Amino acid sequence: MAGRIPQSFIDELIARADIVEIIGARISLKKAGREYKACCPFHSEKTPSFWVSPDKQFYHCFGCGAHGTALGFLMEYEKLSFVEAVEDLAQRAGLELPREARDAHNSGGGADLHQVMSQSAQFFAQNLSDNARALAYVDKRGIEPGTARKFALGYATDSWNALLNRFGSQEADRQRLLLAGLIIERERRGNEREGGCYDRFRDRIMFPIRDSRGRVIAFGGRILDQGEPKYLNSPETPLFHKGRELYGLYEARQAHADFKRLMIVEGYMDVVRLHQAGITYAVATLGTATTQEHLNKIFRLTSEVVFCFDGDRAGRQAAWRALDNALPLARDGRELRFLFLPEGQDPDSLVGAEGMAAFEARLNTALPLSEYLVQQLVAQTDLLHADGRAKLAALAKPLFARMPEGVLRELLADRLAAEIRMPAAKLKQLLLSGASSRDTSSPMEPMRRTPERMSAGRRNMLSQAISLVLHHPRAAHAVEDPAALSGLDKPGISVLQTLLEQARESHQPSTATLLERWRDLPEFERLAELAAGAPLVPDADAAGHELSMAVQKLIETLGPGHRTNELLRKAEELGLNSDEKAELSQLLKSRNQPPSQT
Ligand code: CTP
Ligand code: MN
Repeated sequence: MAGRIPQSFIDELIARADIVEIIGARISLKKAGREYKACCPFHSEKTPSFWVSPDKQFYHCFGCGAHGTALGFLMEYEKLSFVEAVEDLAQRAGLELPREARDAHNSGGGADLHQVMSQSAQFFAQNLSDNARALAYVDKRGIEPGTARKFALGYATDSWNALLNRFGSQEADRQRLLLAGLIIERERRGNEREGGCYDRFRDRIMFPIRDSRGRVIAFGGRILDQGEPKYLNSPETPLFHKGRELYGLYEARQAHADFKRLMIVEGYMDVVRLHQAGITYAVATLGTATTQEHLNKIFRLTSEVVFCFDGDRAGRQAAWRALDNALPLARDGRELRFLFLPEGQDPDSLVGAEGMAAFEARLNTALPLSEYLVQQLVAQTDLLHADGRAKLAALAKPLFARMPEGVLRELLADRLAAEIRMPAAKLKQLLLSGASSRDTSSPMEPMRRTPERMSAGRRNMLSQAISLVLHHPRAAHAVEDPAALSGLDKPGISVLQTLLEQARESHQPSTATLLERWRDLPEFERLAELAAGAPLVPDADAAGHELSMAVQKLIETLGPGHRTNELLRKAEELGLNSDEKAELSQLLKSRNQPPSQT
């Protein structure tokens, strides 16, 4: 969605907004030097560790790790979507959302598709009430008529063209149905000119997937009785990105002004039947693992999440993937728990058999994240022996490193220490050690964030360079030619190059405007962490100097001539072994070769 609002407009918004004013209007800020501090609104604390920097237009909490720009703050604090937060800032600045953004957001192709989806949902719902066999199936699955209405369930008839005939008489209509993923283009055969189209969903109970405003953006369809695939979802369309949406979230929000918790289950049927039984805080991912995007969406609404998985192997695998994605989000004040159901049961069958109270009682047995993690690792190791215990620590280390600092991580260390029978302090040291060896790894890798570490200058050259640009975007002009970085073989180099280019092109670069360009990219969290750290140098001039040195160093040490020079130097000082000699002669040969002319 961010892509459709022009970056220049977001730059403008961030440049006009004052983060101190925006945050200060909501919580009470106290001036402290150049910055402002407060008790963090995102976790409970008595002494302030929440800082707002007017220079960076950025906030950061040293307690729970929360951080971001003015846009990010509005999203987190006011529980707004990205577009809503943009609209809010725009209104405050007296700016009109540019036309192209408004169109993509509200109307344009979007409006047409919304209309197609809504008409189709009504068509499917009508089919359901007209079809005795489909009604009997819904009834057999224990779904009451009121529930079917609440979820707007429908039925796609057992026909190749029912929907096509109803809504696709004109070519333009067919194009819309195609774009909406409701019909499929037949492959052309031989010299046929037209392949024609057919309905995607046939003989299926239809579950409309709705966005936060209740508009239908996709469908899931379950085959009646037997058939493959059992569930069929809409493909990715301009309206629908399945890694982002949660089935049942709209219905859940209708039922609750505020959530104590949300529960993530695996299936459509699970959500429908849980809601019917009164557990109206259940949502489902759509045949995918729980992504960070899902979790970020959920954590805007509540701080407690229970993952609920079937007791089978697929369920356990899905749980581990969910845990993996959840680790970086396990901040203080958040609660993540894992509930495993008995083998062969799912929420649908269980809640049908035992009802709401018994099902909710199971929630009390859900494992806290640290507990589940330790259990899983312990199952892979033999704790009777010292190597087994060392292996447990080794397995835990990368997972530990991906968690933000805080109580949850401490709890995990304590639990592990108990299993390994090692003093917790010593284990923690072990789990956090090796920072210097990690310095050679990608700076985009999730990394521990401690204030000491950020300023210790132990980070690698690349991270330092990235941090310099983020803190002092104007320093990017000191780098003569960012393009000289292209082709250097190191993960993260292209991130530095892009940041340098963005900072140079931008009229009013700030930490916040740079960061906002990365909001939808995987590097965003890592960059935000770097931006949250203390600046390495105090001002843009010093930063420019450091930055150009760092870039030069990177080119020297990673560029094509590097290895040759290293070997030549070694040949002079220490002599080379036979492998090195061979390597050097190869390098010199290729260096002397003219570029190929073919
Ligand atoms: N799923 C899918 N495609 C499949 C099978 C499953 O997308 N071929 C997704 C659906 O979102 C489904 C969920 O995974 O709701 C869980 O699948 P499964 O456990 O197999 O089905 P149930 O939810 O138990 O469905 P039912 O009770 O109708 O058999
Ligand atoms: Mn089921």
